[in-house]
Amino acid sequence: MIEARALTKRYGERLAVADLTFTAPAGQVTGFLGPNGAGKTTTFRMLLGLAAATGGQALVDGRTYADLPEPRRVVGAVLESSGFHPGRSGRDHLRTITAAAGLPRTRVEEVLHLVGLGGAAGRRAGGYSLGMRQRLALAGALLGDPRVLVLDEPTNGLDPEGVAWLRTLLREWAAQGRCVLVASHLLAEVAQAVDRVVIIKSGRVVHEGDITDLAADPGLAVRSSDPDRLAALLTASPGTTVRPDGTGRLVVRGRTAEDIGGTAARAGIAVHELAHRPAGKSLEETFLDLTGTGPTSTGPTSTGPTGTDPTTGPAAAPARPAAEVPR
Ligand SMILES: Nc1ncnc2c1ncn2[C@@H]1O[C@H](COP(=O)(O)OP(=O)(O)O)[C@@H](O)[C@H]1O
Ligand SMILES: [Mg+2]
Repeated sequence: MIEARALTKRYGERLAVADLTFTAPAGQVTGFLGPNGAGKTTTFRMLLGLAAATGGQALVDGRTYADLPEPRRVVGAVLESSGFHPGRSGRDHLRTITAAAGLPRTRVEEVLHLVGLGGAAGRRAGGYSLGMRQRLALAGALLGDPRVLVLDEPTNGLDPEGVAWLRTLLREWAAQGRCVLVASHLLAEVAQAVDRVVIIKSGRVVHEGDITDLAADPGLAVRSSDPDRLAALLTASPGTTVRPDGTGRLVVRGRTAEDIGGTAARAGIAVHELAHRPAGKSLEETFLDLTGTGPTSTGPTSTGPTGTDPTTGPAAAPARPAAEVPR
């Protein structure tokens, strides 16, 4: 199991990860999702002991990475920029890792087979495509047969077939009882493979739960006399997300209609409309709602998510009001 407890990372003035608390249990695939710059890689770097936390803790099976005996056998990780010696073959790269980590050399051929790199294993890694480099990085993570897998944007560079293959692999590992945490800025690439999601935005958790709950929470729509002030009041309590929907209404999640009406009444804000939004919104649309620009921006061109791949747009577009789609 992976646990982050009030995990915080500050780079100078910038809070890259802010008071992040979540868990990724064994036996499940947890998607760690958020737009580019949300803090996913920074979180992984702290989890793997590659960056020091400014505050809080990141734990694997209750211990920090530094405290794990034989960490390679416990955690396998693929980070964004896994480096290889370009002149070395894929096979030699993996042999170097087994030697350094005291792992059996026979594992090399096993993992090469597992990631479908057998045929290319003798070639220089410098000549590999991005997809092949991803597979090699994955092979390296699997060498120790770890019970925890941490993958950062593993679908980058994979063709659609490779993405489908990876999804199957993630499911298999979880079915074997492993803990799988996979970071992506593209919900669509991992949605079919994940059981749970932890969605972050600007270093903070905006949603944690089963992926089925995500689609099931369409939120409430509120039209009021002062949307900016109401948004500020509502977001002041944790677990609430507020987003302008482009038609002058706010979409609020994590609060009941009573909460919202009460908050508005106490602040002297008139509520003109307060309604549950229709269920059955697409997962993608909910993801965009959660990770889109915050309540301070109300213009239709500023409500889009930051750093989201254009491929997420068309899927969500038909269900969204025209004014809301900046693309
Ligand atoms: N070494 C660093 N020094 C300064 N800022 C950093 C550093 N690494 C990441 N950041 C900043 O922290 C934020 C989160 O980055 P990152 O964790 O890479 O996000 P993600 O992986 O979700 O795209 C970004 O604003 C990024 O610019
Ligand atoms: Mg990243």
